[in-house]
Amino acid sequence: MPKVDMRMHFAGVSMKNPIVVASGTYGFGREFGEFYNIGQLGGICCKGLTFTPREGNPPPRVAETPMGILNSVGLQNPGVDAFIANELPELRKHDSCIIANISGNTPEEYAIMSKKLSDAGVDMIEVNVSCPNVKCGGLQYGVVPELAAEVTEAVKKSASVPVMVKLSPNVTDITVIAKAVESAGADAVSLINTVRGMRIDVKTRRPVLRMNTGGLSGPAVLPIAVRMVWEVSNAVQIPVLGMGGISSGEDAAQMMLAGASAVAVGTANFVNPFAALQVRDELEAIAAAQNLSSVTELTGGICPW
Ligand code: FUM
Repeated sequence: MPKVDMRMHFAGVSMKNPIVVASGTYGFGREFGEFYNIGQLGGICCKGLTFTPREGNPPPRVAETPMGILNSVGLQNPGVDAFIANELPELRKHDSCIIANISGNTPEEYAIMSKKLSDAGVDMIEVNVSCPNVKCGGLQYGVVPELAAEVTEAVKKSASVPVMVKLSPNVTDITVIAKAVESAGADAVSLINTVRGMRIDVKTRRPVLRMNTGGLSGPAVLPIAVRMVWEVSNAVQIPVLGMGGISSGEDAAQMMLAGASAVAVGTANFVNPFAALQVRDELEAIAAAQNLSSVTELTGGICPW
């Protein structure tokens, strides 16, 4: 079979393939680096960072569901300064696009973190306005177009690298938020973050998660994600990083046909540490079987009925 060119450009950043690992499912890469060379990935999106360290929510904060998991981790992380000092130098040794995911309590916090991270050498900022598990700095900004735009503008003013905004599916019309952040200067959007959900233990009659609700991810959300990627890709001109339940090359190909330029593998990393590489290889095989010379030919290739 002819070789497929897997290289691509995403919002001005060159990537060796369109496979990224999703924030919150890969830590800062250290554990996965024990299994393989993480520089084989197109991009590594780091666990969400905040201005100061956070311990996250009390346990239980992860629960299995049919075809997925519910989490309410609550943005546990060492804080932006510790990331820059202790994690980024190690990550930078790998030839992969490093994406820093950030959440702030205010637009100013987002801006300060963006400046620090740009200066420290990350390749891209992912602005998280869609975490469903915190009172401040999550969904509060991601469900109101004006607030999502305000945060995007603040980050754009202080970041010197491309800015991608991570959108929530927990809205009536995701295209409204996508268009608002595009108008505010976002270079790309990523979607979807998790879908709010809940489980109840019937014996104790208590919610399974200590915070009552959490975010659902995994194969159960794939069709929701594909639909939203398709809607957003038709609504904005900026590139889309598609994610939500991808665990095979076929899932990734669906997401790209719907309009995604690149894709992120998330929950599948918990099941199989090699998932992202397998998705890459399967995607390449699908593109080769369809006689494509470049994987980018899949993007937006959906055929109308
Ligand atoms: O709770 C969490 O840490 C999840 C973050 C997110 O979904 O963005």
